[in-house]
Amino acid sequence: MGNTLTITDNRNGKQYEIPVENGAIRAMDLRQIKVDENDFGMMTYDPAFMNTASAKSKITFIDGDKGILRYRGYPIEQIAEKSTSFLEVAYLIFFGELPSKQQLTEWQNNIMSNSAVAESVKKVISSFDRSAHPMGMLVSALGALSTIYPEAQNISDPAIRLQQIYRLMGQTPTIAAMIYRHSKGLPFVEPNSSLSYSANFLNMMFNSGNEKPDIHPVLEHAMCILFILHADHEQNCSTNVMRSIGSSHANPYAAAAGAAAALWGPLHGGANEEVLKMLDEIGTMDNVSNFIKDVKDGKGRLMGFGHRVYKNYDPRARVIKQLAYEVFDVTGKNPKLDLALALEKIALEDDYFVKRRLYPNVDFYSGLIYQALGFPTNFFTVLFAVGRMIGWLSQWHENITDPEQKIARPRQIYLGYNERQYIPIEQR
Ligand code: CMC
Repeated sequence: MGNTLTITDNRNGKQYEIPVENGAIRAMDLRQIKVDENDFGMMTYDPAFMNTASAKSKITFIDGDKGILRYRGYPIEQIAEKSTSFLEVAYLIFFGELPSKQQLTEWQNNIMSNSAVAESVKKVISSFDRSAHPMGMLVSALGALSTIYPEAQNISDPAIRLQQIYRLMGQTPTIAAMIYRHSKGLPFVEPNSSLSYSANFLNMMFNSGNEKPDIHPVLEHAMCILFILHADHEQNCSTNVMRSIGSSHANPYAAAAGAAAALWGPLHGGANEEVLKMLDEIGTMDNVSNFIKDVKDGKGRLMGFGHRVYKNYDPRARVIKQLAYEVFDVTGKNPKLDLALALEKIALEDDYFVKRRLYPNVDFYSGLIYQALGFPTNFFTVLFAVGRMIGWLSQWHENITDPEQKIARPRQIYLGYNERQYIPIEQR
């Protein structure tokens, strides 16, 4: 028995031996399958990449059937419980190993010393209407960073690449907080590198003029865990965009702006905002069963439920649900928690959801915590982006340093007209 796949082309009876590697065949090996010399060769058709691996990666492992998520081999539950900081996890995700104390200190210093944002980017943020959507401002501000650091275009130099990683990791929370404060008409708060990544972020968001930052340790811890849980999720939509834009050798700021734009969509990171809107719409317990009925009748989706890969409880949702209680002990319970719990209970027992294997995902409970922490609903996806930046950067880096990768360029099946002759406008 060889590690190959034998394919018989029933159009002409020819047989092909295709090597199997890591449980996959190379799509390019199908190109030799032709009916005649003019034939382009066999392709696969896979809209939405339902069954196509676009990369070999060593960063994140997901077993969607079992509900397993690991960063660099470490189970997410262990990381959430034991890790000392978000930046420790970010180091693990990027470099592949947990840092020594010295490595962590250097990484932290390099990121925190790059957290101040240039005046011209502040001006970009300040130029928006106060009512502008925070994700629109984030996409623009990330793109604007590329104008400050033209050397970032040199993606073949490892030192230059690393410098942009420090800058994007350092400045994304600063930009996020500035976006919030601009929306509220509040003055910007400069970063404070003596604080942890999460505490610094909360301070830049909510400091109301105190010289001494005053961040509750439970809320700092919650922010840190939320960033950790969002840090990477292998080849999701925005990461695929990051890799795809990066594959054209565009600079990482342009790629991150594109990734953030993809994250904004309600089927992806935008779902956390939609969950809260949905809970507001449902309003009271009496409306829960009618809402579920409408979803089953195809009148909308139960936001925060379902996942392309997880066909089991999303392990991140389990950690977040637990975390919610710790936060509510400090902030008071979010009244929408009971509604969310009722929705979850009904959905987990209902045939429609059971048959389709729809479970709560990371976005189902995260918004309840974000709201309790004081973030406005339309800001939730920005929080996702701050946590996900390290995943985007690590995947971008893995992609551009992988000798097998080239510019991402899918094929198509052309079903349009054959050649036809142009008709002048007077004759149409
Ligand atoms: N509510 C009701 N029905 C659903 C839902 C839902 N949330 N999700 C999937 N379905 C149904 C869908 O209608 C389809 O039914 P049928 O087979 O009868 O046509 C079936 O389940 C399969 O759905 P699909 O759309 O083919 O699945 P997909 O893998 O393309 O989509 C998804 C995955 C996450 C986009 C989808 O489950 C969804 O729209 N969920 C709600 C939005 C959401 O919570 N997104 C966050 C995802 S996790 C974090 C992130 O990626 O950012």
